[in-house]
Amino acid sequence: MSAPSIAVLKGVILHGGSGTRLRPLTHTGPKQLIKIANKPMSQYALEDLVSAGITDIAIVLGDVHPERVREYYGDGSRFGCRITYIQQERPLGIAHAISLARDFVGDDKFVVYLGDNILEGGIAEYARKFEEGDADAMVLLAESDHPRDFGVAEFDESGRLVGLVEKPRVPPSNYVLVGIYFLTPSIFGEIARLKPSWRGELEITDALRDLLRDGGRVGHAFVRGWWKDTGTPEDLLLANQRILDRMEADFLDGRSVSGRVRLGKGAVVEEGARVVGPAVIGDGAVIGDGAFVGPYTSVADGAVIRGAEVENSIILDGAVLELRGARVVDSIIGAGSRVRAGGSVPRGIRLILGENSRIEL
Ligand code: DAU
Repeated sequence: MSAPSIAVLKGVILHGGSGTRLRPLTHTGPKQLIKIANKPMSQYALEDLVSAGITDIAIVLGDVHPERVREYYGDGSRFGCRITYIQQERPLGIAHAISLARDFVGDDKFVVYLGDNILEGGIAEYARKFEEGDADAMVLLAESDHPRDFGVAEFDESGRLVGLVEKPRVPPSNYVLVGIYFLTPSIFGEIARLKPSWRGELEITDALRDLLRDGGRVGHAFVRGWWKDTGTPEDLLLANQRILDRMEADFLDGRSVSGRVRLGKGAVVEEGARVVGPAVIGDGAVIGDGAFVGPYTSVADGAVIRGAEVENSIILDGAVLELRGARVVDSIIGAGSRVRAGGSVPRGIRLILGENSRIEL
């Protein structure tokens, strides 16, 4: 007897939106390309899809420098997948972005992954369940202490999913929608009938609510592992901490580098500098004399740190920090930015800087 044939899922990654809560970092590029532990956040989504066996993937681009996304991911072959690009001209909502993938999806089942969501345990087990089952859609739910910030699930007494509501003032439960949706083409009819929400967007939460109301089978699963929607600088720093805590790296015990530290190709830790993990130092980065790179710091490719103590921070590609005696904490320094000080500087500073900024203290 041959094995039952299983429909192959396609993947759709949303890479648009306006990223207002991450300004100024999002003035010069889409937020999903901001690196967490030296990897763009949307690459976590892409790699999760690929490791679940989903290799036919569309990326829906937004209007903030979409060419940077094409440049980075190319045709997908570097990541073991095939990528189709779809342009969303304006951020009219998640459901609007999904509707643009209709031709790409055809008659297949698909999974939509918001490019700013990171799910530690991955989607493989849910993807399998959805592929094998007969649900019209399946949502992933996580317990949250602040459900008002998300889409929220409503259950009846028997535990059946009976409703979904976007950012409600009075949440019907503490179970919120993770930004990963398992869908079938039946969602497109619901999206076509949607009206914009209070925030002026077509909401996938509303489309799924309507699918339920129209008798569609909407399954759900509770995610077990850690999950993060990286909407704010604080979220980025928390995700950075979590990923550095769990990254694979040898435990080093040297004078200049100790703890779990991943050093990129050509990275240099000069005499008189110190790196204490968990930390990641990118290719060609320089940790110069007098610098201390402390726990939970990601230093991207080509960045240079001299003199400063840096902790719990993200220093992006090619950024330069030359600050003798300063302590920089909880900061995000955009790619190509330069922060310099001639004389004495305040000891503790916190900076959220966009790309190519110049600061002289
Ligand atoms: O992260 C989970 C939450 O994501 C869910 O609980 C909510 O139900 C869902 O609405 C969504 O809420 P957010 O307020 O976080 O959505 P945001 O506007 O940040 O957009 C999420 C992603 O989708 C983000 O990567 C940008 C992308 N996007 C967004 C819009 C509005 C697009 O690609 N196009 C768009 O038009």
